[in-house]
Amino acid sequence: MTVRIGDEAPDFTADTTQGRVHFHDWKKGSWTILFSHPRDFTPVCTTELGTVAKMMPEFVARNTKVIGLSVDPLESHHTWEKDIGEVMGTAVNFPMIADPNRAVAMLYDMIHPNASDTATVRSVFIIGPDNKVKLSLTYPASAGRNFDEILRVLDALQLTAKFPVATPANWRPGQDVIVALSMSTEDARKTFGDGVKELKPYLRTTPQPK
Ligand code: BEZ
Repeated sequence: MTVRIGDEAPDFTADTTQGRVHFHDWKKGSWTILFSHPRDFTPVCTTELGTVAKMMPEFVARNTKVIGLSVDPLESHHTWEKDIGEVMGTAVNFPMIADPNRAVAMLYDMIHPNASDTATVRSVFIIGPDNKVKLSLTYPASAGRNFDEILRVLDALQLTAKFPVATPANWRPGQDVIVALSMSTEDARKTFGDGVKELKPYLRTTPQPK
């Protein structure tokens, strides 16, 4: 099954390093980042897991839960986590799904049908509190994921869920945003104030609403 933006994130029950998880119950009311790994003891993934663990306060501040997945059994995950602790200097402070039979990887369409192994299982999903998929990314094995970018998109998604705005290219929190096309310039000025600028009838900006 292909999982696209706007789809309901498939529910599942799986064993994780922090116990058995019923996904929708576990994430109830939270934003969620689900990211996957093709197998344990892979070098790039080792750095990614440690990096995400260090960024956990940023995710908590955004009402966001993180869950990893690797296509290997639980005992192997526990051993790998010890390595990650040694190398990255941090405990893995979020659950990691054991998916040795690829059940969750298949459910989320993480494996390319023509791939000879699980190396394509390097996905990132951002899922909203409404359980809808808000972002889906797939990375090659050779390029470590940029979790600062994931955090930036999360900020953009949370802002645009709250206000009728969109974010421009390379937007960073605090910078001007774009007024939604569905809103007239007159209504935008009533809602956001005199800071609204009309660059083109279809491109209006406003200071980031709080
Ligand atoms: C890694 O270095 O994390 C990696 C290596 C091979 C396949 C996928 C990931």
